[in-house]
Amino acid sequence: MRRKVAVVGLGIGRAHIDEAYSKLPAHWEVAAICDTDAARLSKVGGEFGIARRTSSFADVLGMADIDVVDLCTPPALHREQLLAAMESGKHVICEKPFVTSLAEMDAVETAAAAARGTVMPIFQYRWGDGFRRAVRVVRAGLAGKPYNATVETAWRRDKDYYDIKWHGTWAIERGGCLLGHAIHIHDMMQELMGDAASAYANVATRVNPIETEDCAAASLRMTSGAVVALSATLGSATEISRMRLHFENVTFESGTEPYAPGNEPWRILPRNQATKEAIDRLLANHAPYPIRFEGQFRAYAEALDAGGPPPVTLADARRSLELITALYGSVASGMPQALPVPASHRGYRDWRP
Ligand SMILES: NC(=O)c1ccc[n+]([C@@H]2O[C@H](COP(=O)([O-])OP(=O)(O)OC[C@H]3O[C@@H](n4cnc5c(N)ncnc54)[C@H](O)[C@@H]3O)[C@@H](O)[C@H]2O)c1
Repeated sequence: MRRKVAVVGLGIGRAHIDEAYSKLPAHWEVAAICDTDAARLSKVGGEFGIARRTSSFADVLGMADIDVVDLCTPPALHREQLLAAMESGKHVICEKPFVTSLAEMDAVETAAAAARGTVMPIFQYRWGDGFRRAVRVVRAGLAGKPYNATVETAWRRDKDYYDIKWHGTWAIERGGCLLGHAIHIHDMMQELMGDAASAYANVATRVNPIETEDCAAASLRMTSGAVVALSATLGSATEISRMRLHFENVTFESGTEPYAPGNEPWRILPRNQATKEAIDRLLANHAPYPIRFEGQFRAYAEALDAGGPPPVTLADARRSLELITALYGSVASGMPQALPVPASHRGYRDWRP
């Protein structure tokens, strides 16, 4: 079935159109776009031939033919726009960070339980064939006990990035490299290693004169007992994202494309011949699938057609926000922070310092 989507916010929203919706015409039609910036609205509308353009989010919610609202606005707006879009009865997609506290997550989960439409957070990095192969090996139980992982986000952000006024601010971005940038690979790591049970973080602002952190190093203990080292910086001369994950039977080495570390080449290194043969059998039929936004939006369309849950769920968004809350909670206290973070914790409502 072909569904009509309205894209709200045309920064990364433009990439949703370019990378995904325009490549999936059997599933999606971008029937409307919305942005408070008139120049952006006109530029993107012209580029993709989208006639219906508005600067009013309320207008979008009133468009009876729109099936899906895709929220690509700055983080501080997500909660309010998610609640309003769900209330309108439409399906909703929302960019990362999905919301900006666990208390906001509670409100969205409550509303979603009563909503007519589905809600899908964005985690497009999961769509990459190397990562998909690794997930299959872990889910089939072939990797065995998780031991240890190192996870790196080495990106570069210069002055031009901070010319967008909300970047680097606690008021609107709500966090730095841990929240805005490393969130993707940390989601991928937890998909493979399971949930974090405690987090200890050090952060620093050393690369640009901003409010939020642009360097971070953290140590996690997972519920399995495995231990994980996270490293994130926005001050790398060249950009990579990279993971190395060690399990009882297998070591996984990710690809290193900064914005698509799920892409091949991934190295899946079995510890013994029996595991190698089992992995070869499991992956013999492995079929490629589109990457990044195209993969996620195709999987969402297929889920909607089948009446199943979205391919990224509210539980996934919650897990990523639990980790962020714990990391910032640890920064605030100087101590390790246990997960799940209790509702009585100050950071549950607001993780900002
Ligand atoms: N998934 C990813 O890889 C990825 C990459 C970049 C950004 N993001 C996320 O996407 C979101 C947007 O980031 P961005 O980089 O595109 O920012 P941006 O500032 O470039 O674009 C946001 C747009 O929203 C518009 N806007 C603001 N308030 C609005 C409102 N009330 N109604 C309609 N439009 C409004 C702005 O005019 C702007 O054009 C953020 O949550 C960010 O973290 C995700």
